[in-house]
Order: sequence, then C-alpha cells, then structure tokens
Amino acid sequence: MSNTNECHQFLQWVLPRMGLRRRGYRKVRKQVCKRIQKRIAELHLSGFTAYRRYIEEHPEEWRVLDVFTRITISRFYRDYRSWEILGDDVLPDLAERALEERRALRCWSAGSASGEEPYSLALLWHYQVSKKVPQQEIEIIATEIDEHMLQRAADACYPGGCIKDVPRSIRAESFRKKEGEYCLNRKICDMVTFLQQDIRHTMPEGPFDLIFCKNLVGMYYTHEKALELFKKITGKLTDGGFLLIGNHEPFPLEELPHMTLYNRGVNMYRKKSSE
Ligand SMILES: C[S@@+](CC[C@H](N)C(=O)[O-])C[C@H]1O[C@@H](n2cnc3c(N)ncnc32)[C@H](O)[C@@H]1O
Repeated sequence: MSNTNECHQFLQWVLPRMGLRRRGYRKVRKQVCKRIQKRIAELHLSGFTAYRRYIEEHPEEWRVLDVFTRITISRFYRDYRSWEILGDDVLPDLAERALEERRALRCWSAGSASGEEPYSLALLWHYQVSKKVPQQEIEIIATEIDEHMLQRAADACYPGGCIKDVPRSIRAESFRKKEGEYCLNRKICDMVTFLQQDIRHTMPEGPFDLIFCKNLVGMYYTHEKALELFKKITGKLTDGGFLLIGNHEPFPLEELPHMTLYNRGVNMYRKKSSE
C-alpha cells in the first residue's frame, strides 16, 4: 500500500476518535499527513501501523495529534460578500439597537487564527460602521487555542496574499510594510481582545450580538460534537443576534429550533426573538 493510502486509512481510524469529521479534512489531508509522517520519523517507527500501536500504548500522544489536526489557514475579509452584508445591513442595525439599549455592541470571533477575522471586523467598524453611529462602542473578543497563532496576532504582520481582499484605501491607511510583510496599525489592533481558549472546554462570557464561528466547528468536528458546541455557542447570542459560519460548512439548523437562516449565500444565521 502506498504511503498516501496508508495515511488516509490511518486518518479514517484516528479522526472520528478525536471527534473530528473526515470530510472536513479532504482538502487539507496532505498537510496533515506530512505532519504525521514527520512525527513517525521522529519516533523512529516503521510506519502508520506502528504509529497506531504507539498511540494505543501512549495515550498522551493524542495531545500531539490534536496539534497536528489543527488547520490555521485564514485571511482578511475572507468570504468577501459576508463583509459587505455585515457592513451595509447587519452591523448598522445591531449598532442602532445597542445604542438604544445604551450598551456596547459585543462580537466574538471563535478560532481567530492570527487575528485576520477579528481585525477585519475592527477595520470594517472603524472605516465604515462607526461613521454612521459614532457614539456607539464595540467590544471584539477573539478566542484561539494555539499559542503560536496568538503571538502572530499580537505581532499583527502579514504576508501580502493575506491582505489582498482588504479594500485598497483601507490597506494603504492601516498597514505599513516592514521586512516584506504588512503590519496592522496599533490603533486597530487595540480594538480586539484575544484569549487563549479551547472551544471544546471554554467559551467567553456572553451575550454577543454577533458571533463568527467560521472554518472550525462545522467544518472539522463530527456532527455530534458540532451540535453540542453550536447549542452552547448559539446560547451566547442575544435575541436577534447573528451567527456567521464558513461558506461551505454544514450547520445543523433543523436541530437548533431557536435559530433561523438569514442569508443562505454567506451562511449567516440569526437567533429568533423570544417575544
Ligand atoms: C481554519 S482556521 C479559521 C480562522 C478564521 N476563523 C477563518 O475562518 O478564517 C481555524 C482556527 O481555529 C483554531 N482552533 C482549532 N481548534 C480549536 C479549539 N478547540 N478551540 C479554539 N480554537 C481552535 C485553529 O488553531 C485555527 O487557528
């Protein structure tokens, strides 16, 4: 059997045992296999079968696999259409409501990688929405499991490809080139609070008007695990609050009767009002 097939077979065994969904890994299998092959070499094992035996004998190895199965790809203004809808309709409406209720608008980016998603929100707010509701405050919480990603978010310097969808004028004003990368203005960085959290065990204190849970729970977790987490996540939304999922991720809407579809194209959902 080829190394590729052996790895796929190994993933079929290992992913469900970690509460992870095999289909979610279709596009990134190669990347995960490479990491595992490197590990097998490091341990001087003969191959995947020997590694499987090793895991069974060394349960602490599951923690290593937990790191190997994390996918950290992100970019600014990912799924661009959703940012247009947020900027034109969703955020101004939420801001008006928060203003009437005399409180800050609260947003959470779950699995925030190196900050691309929460910083996109901070940029959208600063350059567009706050112009319509200048007195309104926004609070942006970003949570991420990976320490290395959090450090990169704190540094806030990105390769050009990562910021290519940022509107040109905003790019020119908010990023400065440094050693081949583009570093985000500190004033924008300071709008986001980052927390190191494993979403399977901890979530930030709610309620939130808007939650981003993109390319994490729906994409990589099994249906059972995703449902358990989405119940908790949507429980943190305000009445009428919004949840944004990655464009191609499954979302168990039929099993979450308190939620309704807001925009199919960008996979945006809304919590029903309890009144
Ligand atoms: C594919 S990235 C998505 C980033 C961003 N949300 C987006 O859509 O562009 C998924 C991120 O979730 C993080 N992550 C994975 N498992 C996690 C967990 N259990 N708790 C919190 N974050 C996690 C990864 O480290 C990674 O940075």
